[in-house]
Amino acid sequence: MSVDGICKVVKMRANAVSNIGSLLKFVVSKLKKIKSQLLVCAHKTCLKQGGKSTRKELKRALKERELRECVLITKVDCLDQCGRGPVVVVYPDGVWYGGVDEKRARAIVEKHFDKAKDWKELKVLHDMQGEGKAK
Ligand code: FES
Repeated sequence: MSVDGICKVVKMRANAVSNIGSLLKFVVSKLKKIKSQLLVCAHKTCLKQGGKSTRKELKRALKERELRECVLITKVDCLDQCGRGPVVVVYPDGVWYGGVDEKRARAIVEKHFDKAKDWKELKVLHDMQGEGKAK
C-alpha cells in the first residue's frame, strides 16, 4: 500500500472514531432523559391475551403526553404471572399491573405518570414500592 493509501485509511479510521464519539454522546443524552421503564411481557400467554395491542397503546398514550422520551418500553420474557396478563411492570417504582388491555394501558400512562392522580385506584398485581430500599 502506498503512503497516500495508508493516509486515507488512517483518516477514515479517525473519522469513524469521531463518529463513534458523537454517537455515544447522542445515546448517553437519550439515556439520561429516561426516568421510567415499562416492562411489557411479550411471552405466549400475554400475547394471546392482547399484549401486542397493549404495547402499541402504551406507546401511543406516552407519545400523546410527550412522555415517549422519558419512559422506555421494553418487551420482556414471561414474568411468571401467566393468565393474569397482559402484564406490565413500572420500573423503578416496582408496580405490577395485570389484565392490561388497551383501556388499562392508557389509564396507567394517564394516572401512573401524573403525580396529581392516584394510580393506586388501578388494579395492581404487586406494589413493591420501597422493597429492597435501605431503611
Ligand atoms: S406469559 Fe406473561 S406473565 Fe407469563
